[in-house]
Amino acid sequence: MRHAEFNHPALVQVYDAMFGWSRDDDFFMSVVNATPAARVLDLGCGTGRLALAMSAAGHQVTGVDPARASLDAAKAKPGAECVTWIEGSSNALPDAAFDVAVMTSHVAQFFVTDEQWDLALADLKRALVPGGRLTFDSRDPRARGWKQWNPADSRRQVSLPDGRCVTATIDVDAVTDHVVSFTIRYSFSDGQTLASTGDLRFRTESELRSSLAAAGFAIEQIYGGWNREPIGASDGEFLVIARA
Ligand SMILES: C[S@@+](CC[C@H](N)C(=O)[O-])C[C@H]1O[C@@H](n2cnc3c(N)ncnc32)[C@H](O)[C@@H]1O
Repeated sequence: MRHAEFNHPALVQVYDAMFGWSRDDDFFMSVVNATPAARVLDLGCGTGRLALAMSAAGHQVTGVDPARASLDAAKAKPGAECVTWIEGSSNALPDAAFDVAVMTSHVAQFFVTDEQWDLALADLKRALVPGGRLTFDSRDPRARGWKQWNPADSRRQVSLPDGRCVTATIDVDAVTDHVVSFTIRYSFSDGQTLASTGDLRFRTESELRSSLAAAGFAIEQIYGGWNREPIGASDGEFLVIARA
């Protein structure tokens, strides 16, 4: 199944067990907290880790995601009743309704084609109030992070709430024009196996800058690492903060 890690209930459990709060959440939380009591859009909110934390911090949060199984997991978490959840993508967003928009854990890279990305940026611009901020992460293709996406380097094991253990490995199937196609394989301790395939786009700094400008965003800052290091200096990331 494509991107089953967000759409298959068993794999959504695995996602939550593997990806807890980390320094990327600290980064995005600090950007959002610069606007007190903000109306925040979390596009691609997944299982709601950051959406719920932003809500608990006093923001008025809307989480949007096309993956129903991920949204179901988010809605079952404590505090979920304080967040507005929307099943869908950027085209479902209301006009001029948000002070801040976030796309975290590389949601931006799921908009693979230029057309998908440009439409998403246009929707985000429409959904933000004038002067509202957009922040997101996208991996720098020059760091070639996918070179570590092989069974030896990527192997991870976690315990699940249902008592099972699962081992996950990732394999790159193709790299074409900065689109990386990959397969994640899951092996559960009770013998179940599942696989998920997907594609991610690795945009260059100049592609990000030009697409944001074309959509009407002014770039405030692009960092290269989670501690606000310059581009190219550390984590192989582009951490973008832009104003509508
Ligand atoms: C790596 S997860 C990140 C989830 C969450 N932001 C986090 O930090 O844990 C990527 C998310 O992007 C969502 N996604 C994929 N395509 C999308 C689209 N076109 N519009 C909105 N979200 C999308 C997936 O369903 C998934 O929940």
